[in-house]
Order: sequence, then structure tokens, then C-alpha cells
Amino acid sequence: MRFQFAEPFRIKMVENVKKTTKEERQVYLKKAQYNAFRLKAEDCYIDCITDSGTTAMSSAQWSALMLGDESYAGCKSFFKLEASVQDIFGMPYVQPTHQGRAADFIMAQIYCEKGKYAIGNMHFDTFRGNAEVLGALPLDLVIDEGMDAASPAMPFKGDIDLNKVKHLIEEKGAENISIVMMTVTCNNNGGQPVSMGNIRAISDLCKQYNIPLILDAARMSENAYFIKTREAGYADKSIKEILHEMFSYCETAIMSSKKDGLVNIGGLFVTRNIDIFHKANQLSIVHEGFITYGGLSGRDLEALAVGLQEGTDFEYLDYRVKQVAYLGDRLRERGIPIIEPTGGHGVYVDGRRFFPHIPQSEFPSQRLVVALYEEAGIRAVELGACAFGSKDKVTGEPIWPQLETMRIAISRRVYTNRHLDCIVEALDYIYQQRDQYKGMKLVYEGPITSLRHFTAGFELL
Ligand code: F0G
Repeated sequence: MRFQFAEPFRIKMVENVKKTTKEERQVYLKKAQYNAFRLKAEDCYIDCITDSGTTAMSSAQWSALMLGDESYAGCKSFFKLEASVQDIFGMPYVQPTHQGRAADFIMAQIYCEKGKYAIGNMHFDTFRGNAEVLGALPLDLVIDEGMDAASPAMPFKGDIDLNKVKHLIEEKGAENISIVMMTVTCNNNGGQPVSMGNIRAISDLCKQYNIPLILDAARMSENAYFIKTREAGYADKSIKEILHEMFSYCETAIMSSKKDGLVNIGGLFVTRNIDIFHKANQLSIVHEGFITYGGLSGRDLEALAVGLQEGTDFEYLDYRVKQVAYLGDRLRERGIPIIEPTGGHGVYVDGRRFFPHIPQSEFPSQRLVVALYEEAGIRAVELGACAFGSKDKVTGEPIWPQLETMRIAISRRVYTNRHLDCIVEALDYIYQQRDQYKGMKLVYEGPITSLRHFTAGFELL
């Protein structure tokens, strides 16, 4: 018998969650104008709105917390974090930030310029917002398969399309491209990984044209796991060796540590360029805090120093990625359409194929989010017509995005597979009667279209 191990941890502390009735949830939904962001977390039985900042910390992290040095400048905790980051990234200069979007801000301030392109495989919203505020032009150039939720499984759907990048550089001129940024794994299209071959090739291209390459490393360790398990030549390399190679190709990396840092708050700006580091230090002093704490308390720095190491542990990553795959496999068995293969941090249900009769103008994936909460108290998030929809700058006509999904993000070390079974049962139940669902109408959106999903209001049609 080949013995199959379960979770590589046991549970020392629990947090009770509340069960509610369908009638109660209908009231909550109405009050929240059918927007999952506006529900109270305590009214959610299983919360899959994000995998960010929701990690269960280990006993080692909790005990490290007690060692937090809260000195304003030069605290001990910073030097522990610095050493941990250097060990994992293989890069010398470390500026902590309070979370990922603060690192996005600093990076955009330093590298982006008005009217110039910031190319990526697929930018996360917070970098895109920071770039747009500066008048820069963020552009997603992921491979075509990565933009199609129904495309067949392939190992690295987060890869950037090198030909598209080449064409853009030739067409616009290298002087009009500020940066190329690779987001690993690629959050917006399913937590899909980027291959080492692709990072190496884009790095070569960037060098040829003297364009800085940046990594958005929020889910770097999950990406490294996929390289180890899917890409030829990496099976015998350790996660840290793979990470070192990944970062060897970039000048600067930014990270939301709330993902693979296994902490509830924190971010990083890491670089090998001393001049860039000095600029980041100045921006941190003005916007985040002194260089050695960057908006975090000493105890946060301690927890992150430990969490980064735990996040690169192969046993942990193997459990983590296989748990997400477990959910994907159970859904696929029931015929529920998802992005394939499953990525690192969640399962993305294809709203178009789930509700083919609901047009994008009636928000099919948002309808699915509402149905899942109504039936089972499970909260997911729409990444589709509401979150990614935009408007024509001249006519104001809506522009609907190519990707139309509901993301079920799985928090790290938080839920058991039995919780995931509940998600499967609920989605299966909804799928059986999918024809009976109608769409939704957007009745409120804030002033900034790209941020509307956080505060939008809907009505059921
Ligand atoms: N980059 C990526 C790839 C992200 O997924 C996120 C956050 C950020 C940057 C910003 O980091 O939240 O620490 O400020 N993603 C969360 C999510 C919010 O739900 O996917 P932050």
C-alpha cells in the first residue's frame, strides 16, 4: 500500500463559524444589494472571497510575534525579515510595506511614466490603478489560452505572449515601454503559473531593449511549486533554488505577503538596484513609515520572516496546491465548468458556460456568487462583467471583459476538504437547476468603474 498523507499540520486553535438559514441569507443579500463585499463576514459559513490575509498562522509564527521589536528605527525584527527575504529571493535590498498595493504604489511611482506602457502577463487591479493614476498605460499580454476560460488544460496559462510583446516594442518603440511585470501566479486568470522558460525569455527580451523586468511575487512559492512539478528540468530542484532562479531574471520584485508570506498583513519591495532601493526608501518614509518597518509593527515583521520560510516548504505547498485541485476535481466530476487546470489559490468557475442563457450585461458570474451564498452561506467573488467591465471613453458604452468567472479562493491552512465538499454539493445543486436562474441589473456603481465591484449594488431580474 502507498500511504497517502493528509494535511501536514494538526489544528491547535479553532474559530467557530456560524450556520444561517436560507431565509436569513436572503435578507442579508437584499441588505447588501446582492454584493458579496457588502455582506458581514460573520454571516458567511465558508468565506472564499479571497485568499489574501486570511491565512492561519502557525504556532511558530505566533510565538515569533511575541519577539516583535517595536523600535522606530533599526529594530531587530527588521533584520530577521531582511535575512529571511534575502535567503528566499536571493536579492539584497529589502523595503517592507504595509501590504502589496503599497509596494505597487512605490514601484509605479519609481518606474512608470505618463503615456508609456507598463506591459504584463495580466496586472492585478491595484497595480493597474496605481499606474492609471499616473497616466501610464497598463497592458495585459498573456497568451491567448490564458484569456479563454474554456480553453483546454495546459501547464502554464500565465505565460506572457512573447510575440505580442515584441510587436508592441517594435510598434511603439522601446523608449515608450516603462516596464514589463510578470505576475506569478497570474491571479486574474485562475492562479495560473508562469513557466521558468517564459520568465527567462521575457527577461532576455527586456535586456535586449533595456526595459526593466519586475515580478509581482504575491504567489511566488505556488508558482515555484508548479515549475517543480510541471516543467522539465526542475523536478530535483528545491523550491528555494527555483525561486532564486525566478528572481535572478528581474531587477525588482514586489509582493503582497498576505498570500505566500502566510501572514495577515504585510508587503515587500525587493530589488538588486541600489539607486532604485534608495528611491523606494524615500517613498516609504513619506507614505509607509521608516525604512526598517515600512508601515508594519515589529511583530508583523517577525511573523512574516517565519511565514516566508514556511511558505516555501515543499510539504506545505504540495498539500496546498493539491487541496485546490481536490475542489477542482470534484467540480469537474459533476460537469461544472471551471478554468482548467486548477491553479494555485482557488478554483474559477466559468460563468459563461455555467449560465449560458445569461448575457454578460446581466452579470452571470455575479448571479452565481449570489446563488452560492443564498443556498449555502458560501462567499466567493465575481471576476467578470462587474469587476473587469469598463466603458468606452468617448461613448460611455459598456465594454465586457473576455474572462467571466466566479473565483472560489481558498485560504491557506484554514478549511478542511469537508468544507470543500460543501462547496461542491452547493454548486452541484445550483447547476442542476441552472435554467431557472435569471440575471442581475446593476443599480449602483461608484465613480471609478474599475473599482465598482467593491461597492456596487444589484437587483435580481
Ligand atoms: N498583486 C496581486 C497578484 C494580488 O493578487 C494582490 C491582491 C495584490 C497585488 C495587492 O496586494 O491586497 O496586499 O494590497 N489580491 C487580493 C485578492 C486582494 O483577493 O486577490 P494587497
